[in-house]
Amino acid sequence: MAEDLRRNAATDPVIANAESIDAAARLLVAGALVAFPTETVYGLGADATNDRAVAAVFEAKGRPRFNPLIVHVDGVAAARAEVTFDRRAEMLAERFWPGALSLVLPRRPDGAVSLLASAGLDSLAVRVPHHPVAEALLAACGRPVAAPSANASGRVSPTTAAHVAASLGGRVAMILDGGACPIGIESTVLDLTGPAPILLRPGGVTIEAIEAVIGTVTTAGPEAIAAPKSPGLLASHYAPNLPLRLNVLDVRPHEALLTFGPRPPAGAVLTRNLSPTGDLVEAAANLFAMLRELDRADLAGIAVMPIPDRGLGRAINDRLRRAAAAR
Ligand code: TXA
Ligand code: MG
Repeated sequence: MAEDLRRNAATDPVIANAESIDAAARLLVAGALVAFPTETVYGLGADATNDRAVAAVFEAKGRPRFNPLIVHVDGVAAARAEVTFDRRAEMLAERFWPGALSLVLPRRPDGAVSLLASAGLDSLAVRVPHHPVAEALLAACGRPVAAPSANASGRVSPTTAAHVAASLGGRVAMILDGGACPIGIESTVLDLTGPAPILLRPGGVTIEAIEAVIGTVTTAGPEAIAAPKSPGLLASHYAPNLPLRLNVLDVRPHEALLTFGPRPPAGAVLTRNLSPTGDLVEAAANLFAMLRELDRADLAGIAVMPIPDRGLGRAINDRLRRAAAAR
């Protein structure tokens, strides 16, 4: 299926109308990637509940790291199913949604969104976009859609379908053309996981407008705002409690084993294989859930087999190195 969807990869944008939006929704539900317009910038969308589809987003963007993605929903009720709202979040959603404000809130344990979408964090950035095409697409697919800006890593965010085609053409199943994005800069990202609201990224909704609703907002340091670095600097950054040994081929007593490929070493008390077939997209899709499964208080550590340092393997190894260093 994934192979078929990739072979049919779009290079030319398709004008957004009822029919093409319906086709795009079916592609999303089938696990394919669809680029679509929002009021801020174009997003590279994937079914946020599908680990593999979310892994494909990172692959298509060619990011060397797993940054947490913004999850788009079609209303406050859908957001509430995934994250816990407090009074500040209620007031901001009431005032600015649909709109260019992404709220970082604690994930609900019973939420359906892939752990990879938030790069393993216990929080999740959610927003309700204010654009007729994005709204129709979310309604048609009936599930949350993870969507970073639809540009290759290191390029500027696209505000027209032609920008998307130039940056990601051939790597997405469909590019929906809804014209130029009216705001043209990304959404404001506000962290509400702690007692003080923290601005992680300035964007379409001004800090003054936010402060008028919830009072003083702290601005994160420039390091934290630089998108590629921010996940590594977050206090809630997920790291296993157990020590990790990376690039090993042996397992010690009482160690759990995280393996990759068809020939895992034997003898571990608990083993998870990121991808028995050696598929890095599948490995990325499984990474955070498997790390959590192996992180058991009754074990001594986690041994991790070598993972090829190419494609998504670079992001996987980056994440594992941070997890190993975090202790
Ligand atoms: O306007 C936008 O927000 C666009 C459109 C498509 O909606 N999306 C977008 O996504 O810009 P992206 O992935 O390019 O940027 C997401 C930003 C990053 O700076 C990321 O670090 C931050 O949001 N972010 C996402 N989830 C987070 C979390 N759980 N904790 C902290 N920061 C988070
Ligand atoms: Mg971006």
